[in-house]
Amino acid sequence: MSSSPSLGLNIRIFEDIEALSRAAAEEFTELASRPKPAASPFVAALSGGSSPKRFYELLATPEFKSKIPWPRIHLFQVDERAVPPDSPQSNYKMIRESMLDHIPLPAANFHRMAAEKHDRDAVAAEYEGELRSVAEVGDDEWPRLDLIYLGIGEEGHTASLFPGTAALFEEKRAVCCNYVQQVEMWRMTLTFPVLNSADRIIFLVSGAEKAAILRHVLKDSNPLKPLPAQRVQPKHGSIAWYVDRAATQQL
Ligand code: 6PG
Repeated sequence: MSSSPSLGLNIRIFEDIEALSRAAAEEFTELASRPKPAASPFVAALSGGSSPKRFYELLATPEFKSKIPWPRIHLFQVDERAVPPDSPQSNYKMIRESMLDHIPLPAANFHRMAAEKHDRDAVAAEYEGELRSVAEVGDDEWPRLDLIYLGIGEEGHTASLFPGTAALFEEKRAVCCNYVQQVEMWRMTLTFPVLNSADRIIFLVSGAEKAAILRHVLKDSNPLKPLPAQRVQPKHGSIAWYVDRAATQQL
């Protein structure tokens, strides 16, 4: 593993997705095990896609799952596609098969985004209510998650915050839905105010196909037209980029 402070960013470079995922699992285990005031829960949000899959699988191996205090952890989703929970496109399905089915997390401690339901705005509002009932709420009235894992798309989206979509401008709700033309489907997503209220955000980026967007996001800051991933700037928390060597070819 090497780091790249030259960019003034916390970038941890790993040989491959296995080493990246192992480091992510080690940090999750360490952070989730830290005592919290008044025994409040450790609240994390998980992205979908392919990058975090191995990380989730490792958390479910005996090496890690036996060290993690699952009963005091609550897991939320960062975003979800408007598909049934058993659809191959479902982020929940991927998280369930790679991890939830293999760990002793109390069922009530995983909060699925029911993005397939038709009354999307009501579902988003209900999900925000769940988030607010579990996570601490900051002085700014936004839920403060302990840890959020994000990925990045080749055009600079993160969560389901895609360039040119309405959700980019959401300033009142922590969870919202919008139709995403790029993928021709409705998406439910956490919004920037709640992402940027987190105590820690970790981007997991793997593969040569992400090299161009990673260079763009980390080096080409256009203040007038930031890409969604560039707008993830935690107000009081930290941000780290876990990247594999293939994704750093253009840095
Ligand atoms: C989703 C994800 C999304 C993902 C990026 C990167 O619903 O697709 O939450 O934001 O993190 O698209 O996806 P990969 O990890 O598959 O490259």
